[in-house]
Amino acid sequence: ASAEKGGFPSFMEKEIFDQPAAVADTLLGRSDADGRLTLDELRIAPEELAEISKIVVLACGTSAYAGSVAKYAIESWCRIPVEVELSHEFRYREPIVDEKTLIVSISQSGETMDTLMAVRYAKEQGAKTMSICNTNGSTIPRESDAVLYTHAGPEIAVASTKAFLAQITATYLLGLYLAQLRGNLFQGQIKDILADLGKIPSKIQDILDRAEEIKDLARNMSDANSVLFLGRHVGYPVAMEGALKLKEIAYIHAEGFAAGELKHGPIALIDDGQPVFVVVPSPRGRDSLHSKVVSNIQEVRARGAKTLVIAEDGDSAVKDFSEWVFYVPETPTLLMPLLATVPLQIFACELASAKGFDVDQPRNLAKSVTVE
Ligand code: AGP
Repeated sequence: ASAEKGGFPSFMEKEIFDQPAAVADTLLGRSDADGRLTLDELRIAPEELAEISKIVVLACGTSAYAGSVAKYAIESWCRIPVEVELSHEFRYREPIVDEKTLIVSISQSGETMDTLMAVRYAKEQGAKTMSICNTNGSTIPRESDAVLYTHAGPEIAVASTKAFLAQITATYLLGLYLAQLRGNLFQGQIKDILADLGKIPSKIQDILDRAEEIKDLARNMSDANSVLFLGRHVGYPVAMEGALKLKEIAYIHAEGFAAGELKHGPIALIDDGQPVFVVVPSPRGRDSLHSKVVSNIQEVRARGAKTLVIAEDGDSAVKDFSEWVFYVPETPTLLMPLLATVPLQIFACELASAKGFDVDQPRNLAKSVTVE
């Protein structure tokens, strides 16, 4: 088993370190030199895809957070409305879907019963179904009209890491493909975004090379009994995912919030010493998103929070308000989750290990949930 872990103490840590390859392999062979997407494998005719009027993403857990990230990118690039819904919630209301709806299910295992049942239901209603999946030949892609495989390689640890980054990557390819089909972006824009995606693996590597900075923090926080995570825009699902990782393997109460929601309630939770991770968007982005989040850091800090910040290289504005800062390389805002998630994964993995837990086999959880 230790050989299979490639010298790492756990599958989870190995899989975190596999992420440059997971993203690179998911991008590989899916566009040509001119930046044209070539998703011939999809099995849905381009004319049909060009006609869809909305996308509904169905998934559970971490895969649903990948869907939440995808919503921002696909809506921005394709101007198609994207809903993201937990499979088990979708299935048992009366969702409005028809022939012009594209269902995009996201599942690492391809066997999650909640998602399978939701896909079957949508298909019965006449929707087109596309599966983003990491497991070749599994049930959900077999039952879907189309499939786009993530090429993360087998994921063994119960807590999903590399599949998540590969899922985000695959949804981005899908978004760019739809933008190409529908003419929403110029070819040059698609080419530029693909070039930025192509740089992500080495930027993840840069983060992994500095893992020790994050591990140090995690080891010092092994007695924490609650950790909060804040983010805005694409940083919001990243915050949710950071919290889920900590619950799953370190059994610590953790919650992710949209930073703008703080003043509507959650800020009451902040008291002296409360650890709060904040995912800060690029200061180069539009819409004053950055300054809004910096104010949120100040607000929680003023109430005694211990502020732990993930920010972009060169962002000096956060320094004065943070107990600890980890810088990730520069990238366009929409691609930021592919970087900002990584330190949160390392943090959870190291903290759980420091507490002596088996990070690969957390209590009460199974790798694939095949019951409804
Ligand atoms: C992630 O760390 C979880 N173990 C869990 O939330 C998982 O993402 C969820 O059960 C969905 O699984 P799937 O991607 O195989 O469908």
